[in-house]
Amino acid sequence: MDRAHAEALDADDPLRAFRDLFDLPDGIIYLDGNSLGPIPKATRGRMDDVLAREWGHDLITSWNKAGWIDAPQRVGDKIARLIGAAPGEVAVADSTSVNLFKLAAGALPLRPGRRKIVTEAGNFHTDVYVLEGLAALVGATLEVLPRDQVLGAVDDETALLVLTHVHYATAEAWDMAAVTAAAHARGALVLWDLSHTVGAAGCDLNRADADLAVGCGYKHLNGGPGAPAFLFVAERHQAAIRPPLSGWMGHAAPFAFEPRYRPAPDIRAQLCGTPPILGIAALECGVDIHLRAPAGAVAAKGRSLCELFTRLVEARCGGLGLTLVGPRDMARRGLHVAFAHPDGYALVQALIARGVIGDFRDPDICRFGFTPLFLSHAEVWDAVEILRDVLETRAFERPEFRVRATVT
Ligand SMILES: Cc1ncc(COP(=O)(O)O)c(C=O)c1O
Repeated sequence: MDRAHAEALDADDPLRAFRDLFDLPDGIIYLDGNSLGPIPKATRGRMDDVLAREWGHDLITSWNKAGWIDAPQRVGDKIARLIGAAPGEVAVADSTSVNLFKLAAGALPLRPGRRKIVTEAGNFHTDVYVLEGLAALVGATLEVLPRDQVLGAVDDETALLVLTHVHYATAEAWDMAAVTAAAHARGALVLWDLSHTVGAAGCDLNRADADLAVGCGYKHLNGGPGAPAFLFVAERHQAAIRPPLSGWMGHAAPFAFEPRYRPAPDIRAQLCGTPPILGIAALECGVDIHLRAPAGAVAAKGRSLCELFTRLVEARCGGLGLTLVGPRDMARRGLHVAFAHPDGYALVQALIARGVIGDFRDPDICRFGFTPLFLSHAEVWDAVEILRDVLETRAFERPEFRVRATVT
């Protein structure tokens, strides 16, 4: 295998033109779009317009005139198309952590008499922390179990199973339809965290008969740092699920100023306070790019990039201390690849110094994201050559690469 092989794969890439839709600095290979997606070029113009015209000139009239008030559902409907949901099942709101709390808390009363929540040990920590807080608040039991014990723990006491579809570190993906069916057979609901799924390997929530889901806007959706998140409530649950954060934006008639709370009969019930219009405007630019990509092409190219990276690292960096973490089978994974290395933190810093930006996850994981809309197979080749050089020369042993930053 040589660089020409990678270039040949790029020549056949149906997503080749998408790279030009993003602003990426010269001289870097960005393998961290799974953590913070790069800025779409369209976002600058759109933000200028929101700031100057909608906010600056039209002021408060923009709530109606520019459709600000409907933005959470409008962008939610667009995201729905990326995750196999129907119009009216997704809204943009809050952060992933807050949405997880809202939906988990709302789900428990849907299974009266059941007080158990099950999740995976090693799930992204915010998910576990939020569930711990919720369990303490409402007197539920939380079981945090190793991956291979999770399904077996779902029993007739279990109200809710909470899983991250694509694992944040290993990229291992659950079989959403099979897990959902197994949980339903035991009478439990399932809440999926799609943070590493949306805009990447994707999913089909309604085909999987999913109940509830949440996910991030700032990763593969390119919504910008701290972008608002989204939530999904299957249509069949919307009338029954009561929002625990009963804010005025979730009221059936927010501007009627009724003295008591009355939830909206649809996904709007999951909104709480005033929507973050600037954040939603930026997120919409990222989502719009994804909607232009041919169906299936993003996942297919992502798998091709991940497969090439994995094969090249094993072929060209063999014996240099890297161990693949997570499944080799591309059908069972999302679009980042993790290799453990005893000096993982320093290795990632040394790579960043050479222009290859990935990230590090404790205790020893070097994580590389393969975002199909802007990466090429040739860049994968180049990244592996730099990785090989950094490992062979042991450049990562330089003391400056060991200094821990606040954000890793
Ligand atoms: C699986 C998963 N869930 C949630 C989050 C973060 O959620 P929040 O938007 O609340 O910070 C992340 C962030 O990396 C994540 O990987």
